[in-house]
Amino acid sequence: MSDKSIHNSEVARVLGKNKSYLLAGFLLGVLLSTGVFALCVRHFNSDPQNGGSGLVLKLGHSLDQQHPVHLALEHMAERLQQKSAGTVELQIFPNGQLGSETECIEQLQRGALAMTKTSTAPLESFLPEFSIFGVPYLFRDDEHAWRVYTGEIGKELLQKGSEVGLRGLCYLDAGARSFYTVNKPILKPDDLKGLKIRVQESQTAMELVEALGGSPTPMSFGELYTGLQQGMVDGAENNPPSFYSNRHFEVCKHLSLDEHARVPDILLISESVWKNLPPHVQQWVQEAADEAAEFQRELWEEKTAEVLEDVQKEGVTIDHPDKSLFAEQVKPMVDKLKGTPVGDLVNRIRELP
Ligand code: GCU
Repeated sequence: MSDKSIHNSEVARVLGKNKSYLLAGFLLGVLLSTGVFALCVRHFNSDPQNGGSGLVLKLGHSLDQQHPVHLALEHMAERLQQKSAGTVELQIFPNGQLGSETECIEQLQRGALAMTKTSTAPLESFLPEFSIFGVPYLFRDDEHAWRVYTGEIGKELLQKGSEVGLRGLCYLDAGARSFYTVNKPILKPDDLKGLKIRVQESQTAMELVEALGGSPTPMSFGELYTGLQQGMVDGAENNPPSFYSNRHFEVCKHLSLDEHARVPDILLISESVWKNLPPHVQQWVQEAADEAAEFQRELWEEKTAEVLEDVQKEGVTIDHPDKSLFAEQVKPMVDKLKGTPVGDLVNRIRELP
């Protein structure tokens, strides 16, 4: 692998020679002083004691640093560091610093970014099968959803990503999505009439809000706080930890736990970066990802309960509407999938105990 291709694929190798350290130190100073360090770091020095080589994997995602998904990614970075004895570093760029979820996915395809953690929702524009996770009221509960993620269907979909340059490493819990609004509680689908609801960049999410009577407005997650504050949208939908960690509760005082969809997060690595990793590094990366998923699954439930308490202290009213009213209204949207590849997946998932 040439230096150029290493650089291009964001996987940089630095030889542990004194000369390299001096040069790296100089470059580091220059980068820091120009204030673009966070976006431009391409390499790092591994353990100078044994003169080994170092590898950097850059990962971009849209969530805040206190979010349980970010904490799991930090856990992954730590495990990778331990497994590789400090020779592989996972550098995490949260809060959409490297672009929206769709932009990060595109960077992975070009090999311009090594990894991203994204919701599976925007992935459906790259691989239509991923729209399965946006199908409303598909999973019976968390356990059922996890049986799908870690079972045959989940694995098939992770592998399918390679066809479009995106290798799936694991799923991360993103719980169930519910509506939250600035002014008005959503107790039945009719309450969404005339409301502009921010949705993810996903056709399925648009159809869902439309089916319930709202006006779907696609917007990146990073723009949403301002969008709510400035009245560009009247509400949005997400899981409680994301509602909390991005402080949407400051603007939206009504959270309605209708739990219309369980759209998981997914950890992706650029196929071209993956192919350039030695097999033992691939193994470390996969193992660290699996451990992060386990860690996060445990954290999720606890964090969700915690933030539901916290938002109420911040003046948010939580409602528990009758979910069957919502499920009934979106039924035609699900029925329409019959006979399509996604419809087949719906059947397989429903049949799963
Ligand atoms: C979830 C998901 C994020 C995503 C967000 C969104 O919180 O974890 O990855 O950005 O939904 O609604 O865009």
